[in-house]
Amino acid sequence: MKFDPSAATDTAIAKAYIAFLARDQRHDDHAARAEFCAKENVAPKLLYANPHIKAIAALYASHTNIERTADMTLREYLRYHYYYIHQAYKYGLPEMQQTWLGHHIIKSPSDCWAYQELIWRTKPDIVLELGIMFGGASVFFAHVLELVGHGEVLGIDISLKNLKHQPKEGGRITYLEGDSGSSAILDEVARRVAGKNVLVIADSDHEKEHVLKELRLYSRFVRKGGYYVVEDTLNDLMGFHPVPNEGPLAAMRQFMAETNEFEIDRRLPEKYLMSLSPDGFLRRVKGGPA
Ligand SMILES: C[S@@+](CC[C@H](N)C(=O)[O-])C[C@H]1O[C@@H](n2cnc3c(N)ncnc32)[C@H](O)[C@@H]1O
Repeated sequence: MKFDPSAATDTAIAKAYIAFLARDQRHDDHAARAEFCAKENVAPKLLYANPHIKAIAALYASHTNIERTADMTLREYLRYHYYYIHQAYKYGLPEMQQTWLGHHIIKSPSDCWAYQELIWRTKPDIVLELGIMFGGASVFFAHVLELVGHGEVLGIDISLKNLKHQPKEGGRITYLEGDSGSSAILDEVARRVAGKNVLVIADSDHEKEHVLKELRLYSRFVRKGGYYVVEDTLNDLMGFHPVPNEGPLAAMRQFMAETNEFEIDRRLPEKYLMSLSPDGFLRRVKGGPA
C-alpha cells in the first residue's frame, strides 16, 4: 500500500479499510481484517489500534438497526427519523415513508397513537385537518373515527394535486381546495363546523406567520376540553428544513402569549417520547363555542 505522505497515516489506513469493506459489501470481522492486512502488507496491529476504525467499521458490522441506533443520542435519532422516514418521500426513499394501510402518511407512529387516544377521549364531530398532501393522515383519522363510530374528517389543502386517493361518496372524508388563510376557506369551514365538536390538526405551511394566522383563525372552533394541535413544533427545536428558525413552535408561543384560553398538554404527545409536535397539543380550558 502506498501512503500519501501529506495525509495522516492512520486516516489513510482507515479510509482504505472502509473502502475495502464497502467495495465487497463485507462485514468488519477478523477474517476481513486479516485479508486486508495481507493484501496491503500492513500489520493487523495498525487496524486494531487505529483510532478511527472502531467507529466507522461499526457501520459495516452485522447487527440490528436497534444496536446501531442505540448508540445515537435521542437528538441524533430524531434527525435520522425526520430525514429517513418522516420526510423520506422528499429525499428519494419513498419505500421508507410511514404508511397507514398502504397510504403514505407524514407523521410518526407515536403521534398517530396519541391521536387515536385523543379522538377516543374527545369524540370529535369533525377532525379539521389543515394540510393534507397525500391524504394518508385523513384516511387514518377516518378509520379511527369509523372504529369510534362517530365523526368526519374535513381536510383543507391549497392544492389537491398530491392527493393519492379520492374520498368515497358518502364517506367520512371531505376535502376543500384553497388557502387555509383565506376568508373563502375560513367561511366555508365555519359553515360546515357550526355547532360541532372540532379537533383541529394544523399541518399546512410551517412558516411562523402562517401557523400563527391559522391559530388565530381556527382556534375559535375548538370547544372547551377540545384540542388544537400545532404540528411539527420539533422543526424549530431541531432546525429542520424548511424552517430553520421561526416555525410552528415560535407561532405557538406567540399565540399562547396572546390568550389564556388554552393550555399545553405535554403528557399526551410526550408519553411515547418521540413526538414531532412537542408543546403542540393545546387544550382549550376557557371560552370557545358552547
Ligand atoms: C406536511 S403536508 C400535510 C401532511 C398530512 N397532514 C399528513 O400528515 O400526511 C403540508 C400540506 O400543506 C399544504 N399547504 C401549504 N400551504 C398551505 C396553505 N396556505 N393552505 C392550505 N394548505 C397548505 C401543502 O400543499 C401540503 O400538501
